[in-house]
Amino acid sequence: MLYNRMGRSGLRLSELSLGSWITFGRQTDLAATRAILRRAFEAGINFFDTAEGYAAGAAESLMGEALKDFRRSDLVVSTKIFHGGAGPNDTGLSWKHVIEGTHASLERLRLDYVDILFCHRPDPHTPIEETVRAMDVLVRQGKTFYWGTSEWSAEQIAEALRIARECNAAPPTVEQPQYNLLWRQRLEREYEPLFERHGLGTTTWSPLASGLLTGKYEAGIPKGSRLDLIEWLRATRTEDNLRKAGAVAALARELSCTPGQLSIAWCLKNPRVSTVLLGVSRREQLEENLGALSVKERLVPSVMAELDRICPVREA
Ligand SMILES: NC(=O)c1ccc[n+]([C@@H]2O[C@H](COP(=O)([O-])OP(=O)(O)OC[C@H]3O[C@@H](n4cnc5c(N)ncnc54)[C@H](OP(=O)(O)O)[C@@H]3O)[C@@H](O)[C@H]2O)c1
Repeated sequence: MLYNRMGRSGLRLSELSLGSWITFGRQTDLAATRAILRRAFEAGINFFDTAEGYAAGAAESLMGEALKDFRRSDLVVSTKIFHGGAGPNDTGLSWKHVIEGTHASLERLRLDYVDILFCHRPDPHTPIEETVRAMDVLVRQGKTFYWGTSEWSAEQIAEALRIARECNAAPPTVEQPQYNLLWRQRLEREYEPLFERHGLGTTTWSPLASGLLTGKYEAGIPKGSRLDLIEWLRATRTEDNLRKAGAVAALARELSCTPGQLSIAWCLKNPRVSTVLLGVSRREQLEENLGALSVKERLVPSVMAELDRICPVREA
């Protein structure tokens, strides 16, 4: 396992990392969560991601319980603030919710600090300056070492960087965007100036497009699978996406790997990606997905070109 620097920061993240959306606290109990985390750690994964909104806080609680077994300084833990609950001040990025939400997350995680704190979405109802100042307070208090954004536009990130510079506040150093063969344009096009100018890091999510790129949805929606559980995600099972997933699967057969391994390895090849966040509902999936590390070297230029042909970047 390689350990990449998170953009221009000094923090080192394993090239594969593990998240908890939909899985921990919904598809896994404590014993399964423990087994998955331990196997991930033993394979060299040092970065674990969660959010206050995942399984209404249960993902953080389970992860916190399972991470107790490890030495804190061996771990990089992130959580994300935005979707904290139903009350008027339980969501968004106001000073109040950023601080209160972070305190509640740390309590569920049983941690004194996280390594990275993300703003889970942009908040159109809060001035960016208010959020930057609240994040700065949390950094200065040692509640987080780094802070970042998730699915903010390049313009919003640039604005946060400008404000931080002007206020002498801690700047955002990392973004958490979706990135996979079916969803390329934001990372490969929109964020490019931020990489060049600011050395932004990225912890990318959904390398398998929620499982579509494993080919498991070709013939229908298997019972208990993510698309079975989450109704709104079924809209991603379009004819076009199934056709692309089918072509990726055919190429994977030629390369003697699984379509999921090929898709994850493709994300790993992009130098703008600091770490690829995996999601697994079962340990066997983790086992298979870790195999992407050895598949990476099979992605020679002709294979990359073929993947570009199958899944071109959608230009805005
Ligand atoms: N910042 C954000 O807004 C955001 C959004 C989404 C995710 N994330 C983070 O990124 C992490 C990864 O994203 P993701 O979970 O969407 O990743 P993903 O790799 O696109 O999807 C993971 C899901 O695909 C299925 N799967 C995984 N490996 C498989 C295999 N080998 N064979 C068959 N099915 C397999 C499993 O679902 P089933 O077994 O249930 O079918 C698994 O839970 C999340 O856990 C979360 O921490 C962040």
